[in-house]
Amino acid sequence: MAQRRLPRSVFDYLDGGAEGELTLAENCRAFRDVLFRPRGAVAVGNCDLKTRVLGHELAFPAMLAPVGYSRLMHPAGEVAAAHAAGEAGTGYILSTISGHKLEDVKAASKGPCWYQLYLLGGREAAEGSIDRARCAGFSALVITVDTPVAGLRERDPRNGMKELLGSSWFARIPYLPNIIAHPDWLASFLLDGGVPKLENVVVPGKGPMALLDVGAALASATVTWEDLRWIREVWSGPIVVKGLLTGDDARRAVDEGARAVVVSNHGGRQLDSVSSTLRALPEVVAAAKGQIEVLMDGGVRRGSDIVKALCLGARAVLIGRGYAYGLGAAGPAGVVKALEILRADVERTVRLLGCPSVAALDRSYVEVPVSWPVH
Ligand code: GLV
Repeated sequence: MAQRRLPRSVFDYLDGGAEGELTLAENCRAFRDVLFRPRGAVAVGNCDLKTRVLGHELAFPAMLAPVGYSRLMHPAGEVAAAHAAGEAGTGYILSTISGHKLEDVKAASKGPCWYQLYLLGGREAAEGSIDRARCAGFSALVITVDTPVAGLRERDPRNGMKELLGSSWFARIPYLPNIIAHPDWLASFLLDGGVPKLENVVVPGKGPMALLDVGAALASATVTWEDLRWIREVWSGPIVVKGLLTGDDARRAVDEGARAVVVSNHGGRQLDSVSSTLRALPEVVAAAKGQIEVLMDGGVRRGSDIVKALCLGARAVLIGRGYAYGLGAAGPAGVVKALEILRADVERTVRLLGCPSVAALDRSYVEVPVSWPVH
């Protein structure tokens, strides 16, 4: 449905990955390698789906991942996603590449909200966002560490993403027929005022930054361990490091004071040919030694995927495309529907496993391929 409603440029931004999209596909495929080992003849009544993440009790073990350009997918964008997350009893992570003010996003949700920080606009702009996030009640900062440059997402230049977001009407012309072929989306986009600004990147004296194409945005957004030390001086709350795949990086995150890590390859959108996140998860869980919480994202399309990640040691997963397809398809109602589907899937799967609760899931409920490294 999202593919039908959205122009190709917006749908492919959401749906696509880097280069040959090997990692994008592998993230999903890896879930097929992990098989369940159910316990028979066990009656499970009300199955408890709760989990705790950074002190928040979540009713459902999946949070909504930061998704850039959400307001291009639907005018209600980040506000709708945060609202749906709150109603489902879970948390929402707001991307720096967002079109709604972070204050409005937080106000829309009754659940926890975290802010994902890119250093777009430099440290001065970041300091302003961090201050605003603190005042608005965001309870953690998420630092993405896998964007030293933007990955080569080949669908974006093919669809003219840069030209469409640029200022030259002439350069846009070749890409307009596809936009016009999606009148529903076009009407809602125009009524929303056209291309949104980056409302949460305010360069002092200059106002909110214009929405950049993602390549330019990520190229100027690199975060290093040194930046992380600086961030800890200006943000006293918990920090989540997102975008690592190895035990070494997880230990480094512990040493640098992170409270949680997200095993992530950016949904296969950055370095192609890296391992699926499900396969990388056990190594990170072993390295974390319970000192920090481990989350994961990448390839989660069904509730059974969430259950498999939890069996391998994730405390919760983040879903990105899994709800963004709903947003693109049907706006707020689409996000609600996506979360309902995933919730029902998780509950059914855990009951079929003969397990009383999400908290009781562990390695004994799954079989991993012998070819996977042992941790
Ligand atoms: C932004 O972080 C993106 O992956 O497009």
